[in-house]
Amino acid sequence: MNKDIVLTGLRANNALHIGNYLGALLPMIDMAREKSDQYQINVFVPDLHSFTTPVDHSTLQAGIMNTVRLYVALGLPIEHPDVHVYRQSYISAHSELMWILGCFTGFGEMRRMTQFKEKSTQPHTAQSGDDILTTDGDKPQASIASVGLFNYPILMAADILLYGATYVPVGDDQTQHLEFTRDIAQRINNKFGDVLTVPENVKAQHALFGKDQGLRIRDLANPEKKMSKSDETGKGVIFLTDTPTIARKKIMSATTDSLEKITHDFDRQPGVSNLLDVLDLFGGKSSDFIGRQQYGPLKTEVADVVCEFLGDLQNKYEAVDMGSLSQALESSEALMRTHADKTLHSLQQAIGLRP
Ligand code: ADP
Ligand code: TRP
Repeated sequence: MNKDIVLTGLRANNALHIGNYLGALLPMIDMAREKSDQYQINVFVPDLHSFTTPVDHSTLQAGIMNTVRLYVALGLPIEHPDVHVYRQSYISAHSELMWILGCFTGFGEMRRMTQFKEKSTQPHTAQSGDDILTTDGDKPQASIASVGLFNYPILMAADILLYGATYVPVGDDQTQHLEFTRDIAQRINNKFGDVLTVPENVKAQHALFGKDQGLRIRDLANPEKKMSKSDETGKGVIFLTDTPTIARKKIMSATTDSLEKITHDFDRQPGVSNLLDVLDLFGGKSSDFIGRQQYGPLKTEVADVVCEFLGDLQNKYEAVDMGSLSQALESSEALMRTHADKTLHSLQQAIGLRP
């Protein structure tokens, strides 16, 4: 019996924080554990996507392996026969399918994508002028978005369509890309017959996986904004690699307010409310603190639960056997390559590239 396929990926990054953990990693791993008897689960590292905005290439390789290692440390069941973990760039069909899909994609369609519009105008996420010149003779510009960033959704569509995935749990910011994936698959099918599996629409995705995209852990130093790895100082960001000492220091200096009463009210007490949320999400009991006047004990409790979590995670991370992890990756990749090549070949035939 062929199981429906659930597919998801998280960009390789060295600097994952507790916001990424609670909002993305944990739901992904829970999903893999709960649904692997019913669905085939594809979890991959979109390593080709990871430098659509500039990265430090000297740490890219380590970042990729650290991400997979973290999946395993957090409990992704890689030994399950229907759970597949792989690296995008090891399966060349992703890039090949992207080219084909790109030739059926409108320029205007991509230009309208919110992520492109946002990221291409942020100076620190665009490539530096040293890397890219607009045309010969142009002066290097301070920031220019790459064509890779522009094509991002097409590669993402290829990631999904190669395996015929029906369910693709992603955050709100990625649903527009999922809609594009459906559009391009339908467009190809209308023109060439039913070659591609069209993923379920966003509503059906939410029905299966819940619409849990509201969760946003705030920055501890500036609770007006979400915790994000692109924060320059990192003072309010708890990284999964932070030592308990560093994490505790950041939590104890979290920004609060001068109201001297603990309530859960994001409008009036964003910092305190964020701490209460973090406490609950790591298994503590925020209700024990509601109504109290002093913030110190709340911070101490948050620091205790977060540090316990970090210590435990870091031990598990150290214990991951990298030899068997590499083997698991390679065997998944070999199997996924055959699936992906099959889809690619059908489409190559349909469009006249193969007999
Ligand atoms: P960042 O802002 O740190 O660069 P990304 O935008 O790369 O994070 O998001 C990666 C994943 O982590 C997404 O699924 C996103 O929804 C989730 N995520 C990011 N920041 C938070 C946060 N502060 N709280 C909850 N989830 C988050
Ligand atoms: N764009 C996704 C993100 O930023 C990562 C991703 C790339 C992805 N390709 C995908 C997710 C395919 C799901 C399916 O989080």
